[in-house]
Amino acid sequence: MTTSTSTELMSAQSIVKWAGGKRQLLPKLLESCPPQFNRYFEPFVGGGALFFALARPGSHLSDTNGDLIRLYQTVRDHVDALIARLTQIQTTYRSLPPESQSEFFYEMRFRYNERVADAVEQSALFVALNRLAFNGLYRLNARGAFNTPFGRYKNPNISRIDPIRTAHEVLQDATLVEADYTAIADIVRASDFCYIDPPYMPVSETAKFTSYTAKGFGWDDQVALAEFIRMLQQRGVYVMASNADVPAVHELYEGLHIQVVPVHRAINRDATKRAGATEVIITTYPVVHA
Ligand SMILES: C[S@@+](CC[C@H](N)C(=O)[O-])C[C@H]1O[C@@H](n2cnc3c(N)ncnc32)[C@H](O)[C@@H]1O
Repeated sequence: MTTSTSTELMSAQSIVKWAGGKRQLLPKLLESCPPQFNRYFEPFVGGGALFFALARPGSHLSDTNGDLIRLYQTVRDHVDALIARLTQIQTTYRSLPPESQSEFFYEMRFRYNERVADAVEQSALFVALNRLAFNGLYRLNARGAFNTPFGRYKNPNISRIDPIRTAHEVLQDATLVEADYTAIADIVRASDFCYIDPPYMPVSETAKFTSYTAKGFGWDDQVALAEFIRMLQQRGVYVMASNADVPAVHELYEGLHIQVVPVHRAINRDATKRAGATEVIITTYPVVHA
C-alpha cells in the first residue's frame, strides 16, 4: 500500500535531546520527503525527529545505540510504569535542596552505568539523565559509561509526560532494532522510504577524521554509506540523507539531488568547531516543492 505523508505531520516529537537532532532542519526535511511511499525506515534514528513528525505506522527504526532502542521499546510496551517512575524521580529531585540535586544526579548516573536495573528503571534513568545532563548530551567514555556532567538547570521537567504518551501511540507498531544501518539491506524494498542521518563528515579544515573514527564513523564509513545509498537507489528505494555541506560530501553523492540548506548553530563558542551555516539534504529523487 502506498500512502501520502501530508495529513500525518507534526503529531509527535522527540522524547530525548540528541546530538545532531534534526528539529531545526525538520521543515526542510518534511518538504523533501517523497510525496508517496510505502514503509518508512530510519536506520540512524537517534532522537527520531523526522520519524516522530511523520508518525508513520509500521516504521522500522534502528540505531547502534542499544540503550536508546531499549528506551523506545519501554515507551512502546511499558509506558505507564515508565511515567510512574519518572514522576517519582521528579518528586524526589524537587524535594531536594539545590546542593543535593547534583549528588542525586551522580547517583542516578552511577546506577545507570551499573546496568543492573530492569528495563523500566534503566529507561527512566536514561530520560532523567537526558533532561538533567549538561546540554542534554548523551556521551559515553571509552569504556561505554555515560559521563556527561550535571547540567544545573533551574527547573528541569523530568517527567514531561505528554510527548512520552504521544510517542507511545506512534511507536505502537514500530519495529525497533539495535543494529548497524546495513542490516536494513535484507528488508527494504522498492517504494519504501529511507531517511539516513549518519554522524556527519567533519566540517572544519582542522577537524580530523581520527576524532570521528573514535566515535565509530570515519571516512571509510562515509564512503561505504554513499555506496549503500546508491545500492538502495538501484533497488528503487527512495532515499533521503543529510550531511555536512563540505566538498567531500558533494563528491561522494555526485549525480544525486543535493540541496544546500541553511542552519543556525549558536552552541559552540569555538568557531573552528562550530558546524557550518549550511548542511546538505541528498535525495535519490527530485524534490518537488509545493
Ligand atoms: C546524527 S545522529 C541521528 C539524529 C536523529 N536524526 C535525530 O533527529 O535526533 C546519528 C545516530 O547514528 C547512530 N549510529 C552511529 N553509527 C551507526 C551505524 N553504523 N549504524 C546505525 N546507527 C549508527 C548514533 O548512535 C546516532 O544515534
